[in-house]
Amino acid sequence: MERIVLLAGGAGYIGSHTAVELVKKGYQVVIADCHYNSSPLVYKRLKQITGRDICHYNVDVCDEEALEQVFEENQIDVVINFAGYKAVGESVRKPMKYYRNNLNSTFALLSQMKKHGVDRIIFSSSATVYGMNNPSPLTEENPLGPCTNPYGWTKFMNEQILRDTAQTWDTMSVVLLRYFNPAGAHESGLIGEDPKDIPNNLMPYISQVACGRLKELSVFGDDYDTHDGTGVRDYIHVVDLAKAHVCATDYSLNHSGVEAFNIGTGTGYSVLDMVKAFEKVNGVPVPYQITPRRPGDVAVCYADSSKAQQILGWKAQKNLEDMCRDSWNWQSQNPNGYDSGA
Ligand code: UD1
Repeated sequence: MERIVLLAGGAGYIGSHTAVELVKKGYQVVIADCHYNSSPLVYKRLKQITGRDICHYNVDVCDEEALEQVFEENQIDVVINFAGYKAVGESVRKPMKYYRNNLNSTFALLSQMKKHGVDRIIFSSSATVYGMNNPSPLTEENPLGPCTNPYGWTKFMNEQILRDTAQTWDTMSVVLLRYFNPAGAHESGLIGEDPKDIPNNLMPYISQVACGRLKELSVFGDDYDTHDGTGVRDYIHVVDLAKAHVCATDYSLNHSGVEAFNIGTGTGYSVLDMVKAFEKVNGVPVPYQITPRRPGDVAVCYADSSKAQQILGWKAQKNLEDMCRDSWNWQSQNPNGYDSGA
């Protein structure tokens, strides 16, 4: 019998790629998403890729009554919680908005899980939970916090809420996936990252400069202690990241307790490495200027992901070239994201 996985907030960038990989591995997928920061057009694209109509509900994951219907109509085996606001700068300006939404979605899910006897959850966490004081490579043993912004604290608090809940529920499985910097898109170019506003993150910004939607990239600081002075991060192809969720789903079926995993490649690239690779792989210019540092940024952040390899049997397969090529393939086919047409 096919196992059913509920993807809360599953219509977004990481959720949609995870849906594809889960279907490929024989899982049945149910998406609950209110499209606050995703497009309902994604379902058509998912059908083109998987050949399947993906069961989906247009519900706010914080709305427990609406969520109840999803749990009643589907025998869910595993929940993956992608739902949450993710703009770091906005979270500083509107902390209550972030705490309310990002915590209430977990509360609503946990409450419904309890009610329906669903005891496995995978949570979209972030490298941001390690705060700024840990040297890279980061292992899961590094201390957590203090976080630098409310968005980061919501990831930190959600982890703690899940740990505390697991203490009260013997059979519960909690898998915390701490993502590093997702980049790239599905190789078909049919799904990808589609920020509604001006992107905050590097890769979508580069892609939008390359296609002429934005004028030039601001490189935030060139005086860090790195090989070229610009910030170094661990960029991970979103399809590799999606596959980590499949491994975590397999794992959770025979697991109880709480386990956290870093999901990165273990290799750091600087902002200028990314710009140069993007230009070279795709043959398009990416004009940039150097601007002051962005507050809250660290010089270097990359993962030690050996725990995920040992326990989940997962390892990133794709490289920088793949991320640059696939980001551009998506962006150039869909210059205005899902609203570009067809
Ligand atoms: C950011 C968040 C992190 C979140 C992650 C989600 C901060 C401090 N951290 O990580 O909490 O989990 O996004 O993906 O915001 N850069 C530029 N110009 C730009 C954009 C970025 O030079 O226009 C540089 C940054 O200074 C950094 C690197 O590119 O060195 C990556 O930045 P970004 O994509 O925003 O990710 P993080 O800051 O690592």
